[in-house]
Amino acid sequence: MGSRYPFPAYPNGWFRIAYSREFEVGDVAPLFYFGRDLVLFRDEAGAPHLLDAHCRHLGAHLGYGGRVEGSGLRCPFHNWCWDGDGRCIDIPYAQRIPSRARMRSWPVLERNGIIFVWYHARGEPPSFELPELTQIGDPDWSPLEIRRWRVRARWIDMNENAVDQVHFRYVHGTKTTPVTETEVDGHILRCRSRMKLATPRGTVDGGIDTTDFGPGFQTVHLTGIVETIMVNTSTPIDEEFTDTSFAYTVNTSGDKKAALGVGNAIIKDLEKQMSEDIPIWENKKYYAQPLLCDGDGAFGVYRSWWRQFFSEEDLEAAQRAE
Ligand code: FES
Ligand SMILES: [Fe+2]
Repeated sequence: MGSRYPFPAYPNGWFRIAYSREFEVGDVAPLFYFGRDLVLFRDEAGAPHLLDAHCRHLGAHLGYGGRVEGSGLRCPFHNWCWDGDGRCIDIPYAQRIPSRARMRSWPVLERNGIIFVWYHARGEPPSFELPELTQIGDPDWSPLEIRRWRVRARWIDMNENAVDQVHFRYVHGTKTTPVTETEVDGHILRCRSRMKLATPRGTVDGGIDTTDFGPGFQTVHLTGIVETIMVNTSTPIDEEFTDTSFAYTVNTSGDKKAALGVGNAIIKDLEKQMSEDIPIWENKKYYAQPLLCDGDGAFGVYRSWWRQFFSEEDLEAAQRAE
């Protein structure tokens, strides 16, 4: 079966695998991303670690019955203990730990209330950093409001929405907001939109600044009525499905009640928009060469930007397979 996409399913970058507040010390979770079984655990010092799921000994899945002990994760089958770097640190019934007792461990980063994994198709170390958003966790901002969807589409379909000004009118019934500026800065892509917003107190200047930090982490900064930060993260599950999530925080330093009201309205609107977008994403085909007209958004910027997250050989192989 040909793929709906003329490029590989898993780009290189940082991807959300959990929200910090949902993953406490001693927690162990089976995960499935990038078409593989993984296990996430938080050691007793509070550090998160991600390993391949299956114990190197006799293949038990460490996410089902594995227990955190100190800095390690103990297998439920024969009690071998693995540390966060994937080294076997204890076999309670053996004199000697076999030298090849190693499991694959993945680079993780905890930032902005999110635990991320670094994925690289060739196992190379992280080539960029993620920014710290000072608003997350700040008492002047509301706690993150989190929503998730499992979507049969790829991350690019969702991120590309930012520049698809026309679909806002026809899919969501809202006014079109042309993206006024786009800027590529290595792994970062910025899109700025400016507009006039009608309020009961007259017209105010509004803004939507969308920034992509690689393929897995996108922030949207809304200004004008109530300042809002939205964090959009999409993690590939397999070749077909993506685990996508939006999380919001609103600035409550002014009229707190009004700000939370606006926050709730944004969440409602977001849920409505997702229900409108998802059937389109799940059934569309991604054209490498779409037929665009002069009123369309700046798709070209996105599409030349994302190539850097794949190796040229992998891109060519995917194109040949199409
Ligand atoms: S399978 Fe894990 S200790 Fe045997
Ligand atoms: Fe949309």
